[in-house]
Amino acid sequence: MKVLNAAPNHAKLVEWVNNWAAICEPDAIYWCDGSKDEYDRLCNEMVDSGLAIRLNPAKRPNSLLFRSDPSDVARVEARTYIAAKTKEEAGPTNNWIDPVELKKTMLELYKGCMHGRTMYVIPFSMGPVGSPIAKIGVEITDSAYVVANMHIMTRVGTKVLDVLGTDGEFVPCMHSVGKPLENGATDNGVWPCAPIDKKYISHFPETREIWSYGSGYGGNALLGKKCLALRIATVQARDEGWLAEHMLILKLTREADGKVKYVTGAFPSACGKTNLAMLVPTIPGWKVETIGDDISWMKFAADGKLHAINPEAGFFGVAPGTNYKSNPNAMHSCEKDTIFTNVALTDDGDVWWEGMDGEAPAHLIDWKGNDWTPDMKDADGKPVKAAHPNARFTARANNCPAIADNWEDPEGVAIDAFLFGGRRPSTLPVVYQSKSWEHGVFIGATVGSEVTAAALDVKAGTVRRDPFAMLPFCGYNMGDYFQHWLNIGKKEGANLPKIFYVNWFRKTADGKWLWPGYGDNSRVLKWVFERCDGEGDAQETAIGYLPTMDAIDRTGTDVTEEDMKELLTVDKEGWKKELETISEHFQKFDRLPAELEAQRKALAERLA
Ligand code: OXD
Ligand code: MN
Repeated sequence: MKVLNAAPNHAKLVEWVNNWAAICEPDAIYWCDGSKDEYDRLCNEMVDSGLAIRLNPAKRPNSLLFRSDPSDVARVEARTYIAAKTKEEAGPTNNWIDPVELKKTMLELYKGCMHGRTMYVIPFSMGPVGSPIAKIGVEITDSAYVVANMHIMTRVGTKVLDVLGTDGEFVPCMHSVGKPLENGATDNGVWPCAPIDKKYISHFPETREIWSYGSGYGGNALLGKKCLALRIATVQARDEGWLAEHMLILKLTREADGKVKYVTGAFPSACGKTNLAMLVPTIPGWKVETIGDDISWMKFAADGKLHAINPEAGFFGVAPGTNYKSNPNAMHSCEKDTIFTNVALTDDGDVWWEGMDGEAPAHLIDWKGNDWTPDMKDADGKPVKAAHPNARFTARANNCPAIADNWEDPEGVAIDAFLFGGRRPSTLPVVYQSKSWEHGVFIGATVGSEVTAAALDVKAGTVRRDPFAMLPFCGYNMGDYFQHWLNIGKKEGANLPKIFYVNWFRKTADGKWLWPGYGDNSRVLKWVFERCDGEGDAQETAIGYLPTMDAIDRTGTDVTEEDMKELLTVDKEGWKKELETISEHFQKFDRLPAELEAQRKALAERLA
């Protein structure tokens, strides 16, 4: 086995890597330094070997297109495991396997899995390097695609090893795309992966380890994101008294007086988190800037406030539906230096996806590498998609025109408001504020949304309860997680964020959108801002504080007074049904905190 460069002076880390090398038997070991040279070299190698396509530099400078194996296109929740010591510790919402059994099974799979490949070792920091809120991980992988993505999504290389020193703590993250063409593995010629029953995305919360096998895609393979920054970090946060959340972070400025509020938002996958984080306000005098679009780590600071960092350094955004109208800042972010996965290729070497601006081109190469024309239909007569619905762009946060100048502040930003939301065509108003912290935790614990395509194995179109948008991402018993949120509210001297529910997705009975969404969501953000200062007109109702009819400025929209009434009424019948499904939802928890059941009862009484 060749060792391509010098190992760092950190005995535990080197031993861990050598151990895995002995199991996986790669041809070579390479320690990533995180340099631009390294990034360019790996990209060129992938282009030369046919794994990647370099896009036309005149159209999309320094950008690549990858096509995954058609079976490896999203996170696989059914193959994602929380291998805690006991099933109770993992809780009712996670897949559990005995960690000892799981390690046995996975070690068999890892044996010799890197023949013919290089083992890359990626030291990475989640959060600004050296920030008191940041954590360090080290990922082993046999995928250069993963290395290139990690370069964009995290801070990698020598600067991280410097912080780690000779004995610093790191979360060990093991990844392989799996043995090629064994056990029914597939490979579209460039992207090997294991068959579904051999894929494992495993977390060992007690030992803070991650073992991933058989997938090269997104959250299954870029282990800093969902695996470390959420599933393992939630366990660390519980034990250390902070919050690791599936939340965007935005900076909201009222230009008249320069006053700023920081707002985080938890929404299930594919509910427009990236759009909200990069929103361009339609009301004059307001500015939104981006701190992060997916994950927020928050710790109490001396001022009693929760201070948040974005642990990531890039965006792994869903491409379809993104255009210069829906999210101009995301479009600008991926104009250069971007990795595209499973989008379509234009004849002039650029990218295209469904929902991009303008007409579909007359000819494309689709995400599977086949010729595509707009009139093509599948066996069911449905249009053939040129891009996969979960096609992604991996773009640098620093290329986003809306990125806030303080987005990398190692101390984080002091959070004023939490938003929860989901896709709810009926019942849930466009916005309301919780009555208290406990009521806000109840709202978070009962978030529900219509499912879309971000996860491979959940049926699209149905509503699923997704507490705190953390259903697939909480690394321990969710009842205990609710309790952790309640405990945060009891911290002495805490100056807690206000909690709101927002719903951009209300529809009329005949299926038309009631609320314009996108940039017009700034109208709701303005009310949230004002409420944080004890301003903003509100009426107390059974479900919480609702804006009064004229508290939300709708000048310049087509939202009529009637629409607004519908967006802001408490639909008692709808809520009664909602309460029934909340009861069903709560019954699934073995460790539901009594305070949440009390909140449910109190809401039922207020609605009676
Ligand atoms: C994501 C997700 O990719 O939540 O961010 O699925
Ligand atoms: Mn996400």
